[in-house]
Amino acid sequence: MKLGQLRRVLSFVIPCQLIRLSAGTSQNVLSVEDTVSQNPIIILPFWDVLGPFRIGTREAVWGADPVEFYGGIQNISPNEPGCFRSPLARNATVQWDRKEYNTSTSNGEQSVDFLLDFIDVDWEFAQKIYGWSAFQYQAWAKGEILNQGVVSQRVNIFTDNILEIWINDMHVFGGDFFGFGRAPVLVELLPGANNISVRLVREVRSMGGIFPPTIQAGLRTQPIPEQPAVVARRVVMPNVVNGKFCTRYGSITVQNQAATWISVHQVVAISGQSSCIVANQRVRLAPGQSRPLKLIFDAASRWDESLKLVLTYSRQDSILHDIGFDTQLEPASMSSLQRITFLHPSGSVSYALLKPPPTANATKNERLPVLLNLHGAGVEADGPLARHMFDDTPYLPAWILTPTGMSPWSSDDWHTWGFADAQYAVAAIPDWINSTGWNGPSVYSDKILVAGHSNGGQGTWYFASHQPDRVLGAAVASGYSSIESYVPYILWNEADPLRDAILQTSRSSFRHEILTDNLVGFPIFQQHGSADDNVPPYHSRLMNTLLAQVGEMAEYSEMLDKGHWFDGSMTTKSMLEFYLRLLKVCHSETTVPTSFTFVVPNSHDMGPRYGVVVDQLSTPDRLGKMRVTIQLHDSLVQWHLRTENIYRFHLDPSVRLANAPNQVLIDDLPHVFDVGPGAASFVKSVSNVWGRDVALDWKTLGERHGRQRGALDAILRSTGPFEVVYDSDETLSIAVQTSRNFLQYFGGDTNIVASSRYEQALDKGANVITICLRTFVPDASLPGFPIRLVSEQIFLTAPDSRLISLHLEEGMGGVWLRPLPGERLELVVWGFDEVGLRQAARLVPTITGAGQPDFVILGNEARWKGHGGAIAMGFFDRNWKISFASYLP
Ligand SMILES: *[C@@H]1O[C@H](CO)[C@@H](O)[C@H](O)[C@H]1NC(C)=O
Ligand SMILES: *[C@@H]1O[C@H](CO)[C@@H](O)[C@H](O)[C@H]1NC(C)=O
Ligand SMILES: *[C@@H]1O[C@H](CO)[C@@H](O)[C@H](O)[C@H]1NC(C)=O
Ligand SMILES: *[C@@H]1O[C@H](CO)[C@@H](O)[C@H](O)[C@H]1NC(C)=O
Ligand SMILES: *[C@@H]1O[C@H](CO)[C@@H](O)[C@H](O)[C@H]1NC(C)=O
Repeated sequence: MKLGQLRRVLSFVIPCQLIRLSAGTSQNVLSVEDTVSQNPIIILPFWDVLGPFRIGTREAVWGADPVEFYGGIQNISPNEPGCFRSPLARNATVQWDRKEYNTSTSNGEQSVDFLLDFIDVDWEFAQKIYGWSAFQYQAWAKGEILNQGVVSQRVNIFTDNILEIWINDMHVFGGDFFGFGRAPVLVELLPGANNISVRLVREVRSMGGIFPPTIQAGLRTQPIPEQPAVVARRVVMPNVVNGKFCTRYGSITVQNQAATWISVHQVVAISGQSSCIVANQRVRLAPGQSRPLKLIFDAASRWDESLKLVLTYSRQDSILHDIGFDTQLEPASMSSLQRITFLHPSGSVSYALLKPPPTANATKNERLPVLLNLHGAGVEADGPLARHMFDDTPYLPAWILTPTGMSPWSSDDWHTWGFADAQYAVAAIPDWINSTGWNGPSVYSDKILVAGHSNGGQGTWYFASHQPDRVLGAAVASGYSSIESYVPYILWNEADPLRDAILQTSRSSFRHEILTDNLVGFPIFQQHGSADDNVPPYHSRLMNTLLAQVGEMAEYSEMLDKGHWFDGSMTTKSMLEFYLRLLKVCHSETTVPTSFTFVVPNSHDMGPRYGVVVDQLSTPDRLGKMRVTIQLHDSLVQWHLRTENIYRFHLDPSVRLANAPNQVLIDDLPHVFDVGPGAASFVKSVSNVWGRDVALDWKTLGERHGRQRGALDAILRSTGPFEVVYDSDETLSIAVQTSRNFLQYFGGDTNIVASSRYEQALDKGANVITICLRTFVPDASLPGFPIRLVSEQIFLTAPDSRLISLHLEEGMGGVWLRPLPGERLELVVWGFDEVGLRQAARLVPTITGAGQPDFVILGNEARWKGHGGAIAMGFFDRNWKISFASYLP
């Protein structure tokens, strides 16, 4: 659960002032007064509310809206009396209820604060049976926004804690569930009354396990002027150390508020007497789209306290316009806590907070480890709470690094996207050393001391269970053991057990309870307050118990009567002793114990364990496993590897081991394989017998490998801005929504392109999202791909080569991954009609834990049945064939 209500503005996000520039065409530069002309927009305080209905944890991603059974919120009216079935309410029915909510006006912005409660429901009794799951529900609120003007007015709508809305005929899924405010929705309000429907989803993780379980959410409209077309919303800059930026990258998020496409041509930074071009790649923005622009500063430039960024952009007429934004820079001393910037693997600029080690007793030649501090949910890495976590320990001999994970929710709970951010933050320390000219001790980052609180504690389990060879030690404070056991997944819609199992398999890489084997062999410290009512101490007790059962005696400190967080949580006496003990050890070779086990979920995040790297599983339907025993055989070190569901693996020679194998025995094969100091790779033959992998070029399009591994969230491993391809006006709106969601939830960048440029998009070097409506989906790059759309039918090639054909029907839609060269992926988002496309588009990653597998074909009933309305779903195996445990008609 997040810590406190997060309503504060990030300390370094400067609300950009629009300024008059001496150069440039003045009619395109606005003064502040012009933007707040009289506001004709009014959100009415009266709302018709329908609810509560049940919803499972993170289930809304699958649709699962009971009102859809009655035709959908757009087709029912509060004026027509009627009852709606709901298992949460008395008589199993709910009715419309008229409510009044507070509205307010400030700076020309109108807002409404929703406060939903359903006092007739016996929540407390339900909680006794179903726990926190019973405090989650959904409801709809229908209201109106009046445009008192005589012409249409374009407004930005901010949707705090809201996942889904309708504005007239425009549907929005994604919204802003955690209230980040990064990317509003641009809408056109007609003169007169505009209908708005808001789907409110209560989530215990973000809204609390409190009684009564109310929903608080907000809607805010911000009128936008015709001019200028481009506004900046968020600036990220590194700190200035000795007059220079301490790292090279900056970022400014811009929004296209025009009704036409615009191109940003360049960004010039002006400070004092100097100016330089900091971005010169053409960046296109669709109407309403927001994108973070990457700025690269020359390391040698000196900067004053403020900086003016001047953007040059054009609309379709190609006339160049300039607009300037002022931003304040923040100085820091070299040895103090400071904001560093770096590139996330997706190419977006990210930042982290770095506290260099003390220099008093250290020499330049000394290499000190990194203490990676993973923050909890709702915690801003640059906010007061995270900034002071290590104040008590100024002399800790370590680089203390607090990454963001690219949002206060670390994007996806420190998984695929947030985990990459943490790793790239560590890799940025040498760049900081280089650009600041730091003279103190250098950095040792082969192994990392990982620590985290709450969601960050869970992230610490993720780091340690996926990259055991990179962990010096793990300190987990008030951490939860997995998403599924935090707020239980009961109260989801019913479905065939195989469908449930597929969702669970998709989340198996986040289930630390079943990955404990990987946590044996390095020091672990757990700390939990006995009175923690946010993450119950059960989570730490459970992990401690499971660890003991696999032979890892993790240190466990349960602090009597302490709650979830208290000042000094990360620097308690026992925590400090743990850090110091680990930071003092010299970083020698690792000695492998006489036996170990390696559990391998289907994920590219899995690193080596004692040098063993699993490249491919036999099937993605279950975990892989390897049990290794080590013995001396004629003075040679012999490893016996017993495998389950492993198809291909290698030994990574860069992992330095004191007792690396000279020989390996695999499963029941009678002969040994000699292994030298180099890499050794093994693969199963057609007849299922292990042999050396002699193919140097097995990583072809037809072999699923590298970043392609994982469930649908593997699409997040893009090595550049996502290319989002659309083929019509209808699909353009879904493309803009996809782009907005990637920015809102991940801080990710997307380039939207028309389908006429599909081939170029495939060659761009990034992952591609292809949005298609009706009966055409471009052929897969891989010949014989098992999902095809041909003449009004979908063909699925089952694992037994049977060809299944599905007739296209109203409301059908689907998503599926396809391979692209260079470990890249394409995600097809397809709908037979707009209803189906909307269903499919929800499954593009936003909030984590929803469990999307590699492919899903949804039928019309998924609108209210959620995953229970899937016609087909499952996984692609190592050869991109549909796996045996998939759900097929
Ligand atoms: C439930 O139904 C009964 C009988 O129809 C009715 O008297 C009662 O008012 C209903 N209760 C609620 C809360 O709607
Ligand atoms: C409306 O605002 C008033 C004053 O701020 C507050 O006392 C009241 O609780 C609010 N009502 C609702 C329903 O939010
Ligand atoms: C709003 O809803 C009402 C009632 O359903 C409908 O008559 C009206 O046309 C809608 N207005 C707009 C702008 O869609
Ligand atoms: C440096 O070492 C001396 C002697 O061991 C010790 O007293 C002192 O506290 C150390 N200073 C720092 C900043 O660690
Ligand atoms: C250090 O920075 C300089 C220029 O600023 C660059 O040429 C050099 O490659 C950098 N070295 C490292 C190790 O990053």
